[in-house]
Amino acid sequence: MGVEVGFLSEVRERGFAFLGEYCPELPTSDVLSHFGVPVALGATGAAAHELRPIQLSEASPNTYSGNFGVGPFPMHTDLAHWRMPPRYILLRCAIGFEDVTTLITDGFALIRKMGEVHATRTIMKPRRPIAGGLQLLHLFQKARCGSWRIRWDEIFLRPASEAGQYGMEIFQRKLLEAETEVVCLKNRGDTLVFDNWKMIHGRSAVPPHCYTRTIDRAYLGELF
Ligand SMILES: [Fe+2]
Repeated sequence: MGVEVGFLSEVRERGFAFLGEYCPELPTSDVLSHFGVPVALGATGAAAHELRPIQLSEASPNTYSGNFGVGPFPMHTDLAHWRMPPRYILLRCAIGFEDVTTLITDGFALIRKMGEVHATRTIMKPRRPIAGGLQLLHLFQKARCGSWRIRWDEIFLRPASEAGQYGMEIFQRKLLEAETEVVCLKNRGDTLVFDNWKMIHGRSAVPPHCYTRTIDRAYLGELF
């Protein structure tokens, strides 16, 4: 079984697509293969992980919750400090609320606004060195597969040069001016799939009556 071909083409062409109440009776681990090839992460090797709001004081400092708690998460791409961040992200609602939203915007449009030359010269580095080495990471770069890839994270990435500093400042400014799409994962099974190499995303603040919000997240290496 798979989702309609139109859904996956929308993700490829527009960068994201939303599907309301998709197979709400099935666990997320069972529906991932309807969309694409899951990437297993973490010690358990599970492809789907639950995301719940965590208070600042209870969260690990190397996570978004550890920096922002239940406040709004700034716009970012996931695992931007990895050499090869996963291509697609699937978010699926287990327990949702109207008052918490996911924000998403087209990163390639921002690159066009800042100018591709500046973007490709914007070199960044992880906040902390990885395995003792210093890895240089591009804001905008062609991946080996031929697709262009954007990475953005104002918490876990730092400029690696003067050009990097300049590029990050311009990109940040363009991001603040950007129009964002607002997606609400409200009903069980509501599913958002987006291209983590093209789209930048964030989360609204979580008010106290929404603390039980539970969203499953999985990464997909490719779509079917
Ligand atoms: Fe994220």
